[in-house]
Amino acid sequence: MPRCYDPAVPEPSVSASPRASGGASTAVADLPPTLHVSTHPAVLHKLAVLRDQATEPKKFREVVRELSWLLGYEALADARIRPLEVRTPLETMTGAELGDRIGLVPILRAGLGMVDAMLELMPTAEVWHLGLFRDERTLRPVEYYNKLPDSASVDLCLILDPMLATGGSATAAIEVLKRWGAVQPVRIKLVNLIAAPEGVRAVTDAHPDVEIYCAALDRQLNEKGYILPGLGDAGDRQFGTGKAG
Ligand code: PRP
Ligand code: URA
Repeated sequence: MPRCYDPAVPEPSVSASPRASGGASTAVADLPPTLHVSTHPAVLHKLAVLRDQATEPKKFREVVRELSWLLGYEALADARIRPLEVRTPLETMTGAELGDRIGLVPILRAGLGMVDAMLELMPTAEVWHLGLFRDERTLRPVEYYNKLPDSASVDLCLILDPMLATGGSATAAIEVLKRWGAVQPVRIKLVNLIAAPEGVRAVTDAHPDVEIYCAALDRQLNEKGYILPGLGDAGDRQFGTGKAG
């Protein structure tokens, strides 16, 4: 049976944020230091394709993958490396390999589209699926699947979800990981394509230790908890279900 996530998590806010500007991204004062909004031109270009309502599911999936690669690259910037001896055709030198043990936690279902790109970047990462959906009426996350391994033998957990809206799903996922054992020195990072100020606030208030990497910080949520301007429903647009928006 699906179960409702911990009611202790604050009710989602769907009001406009006083910190949000009228633009599509980033021009927000007083950003928490844990929020990283990409300013890379390639990210901005791809994001516009993703937002376009005319972008069909096949292209949408491709761009989710490409953006995930770019955001994963940014999220890994402070990952640990260890020296690795490499023999080139000419001589032997000391190269590097990723030293962090990484767990990728895609939030079903929309986070699935981010996994392949992340695995290309971090081939030794494990993938631990977490099923959460947002109850359309209450906007509360409901957990229906959890494939975390028995022990938290990992250095870095990357939660993958294209959308950070009210922050309910992300907060729930972080709570699940921390209860499971992903606590200091294990680090948790959240990788989203689009974040709303309300979701960023919810996550940073509850978990100031969790860093957030996204391609854009949008203006606000609408009364149904959708991100404005956003891209509609990330799951529906990837998998061709329902009606976007
Ligand atoms: C979407 C999205 C996030 C969640 C974000 O999933 O992929 O998981 O909503 O909203 P929140 O920040 O308000 O919790 P959804 O519940 O639509 O499920 P789906 O991925 O199965 O479509
Ligand atoms: N989930 C989505 O897929 N899109 C939104 O705008 C908000 C939550």
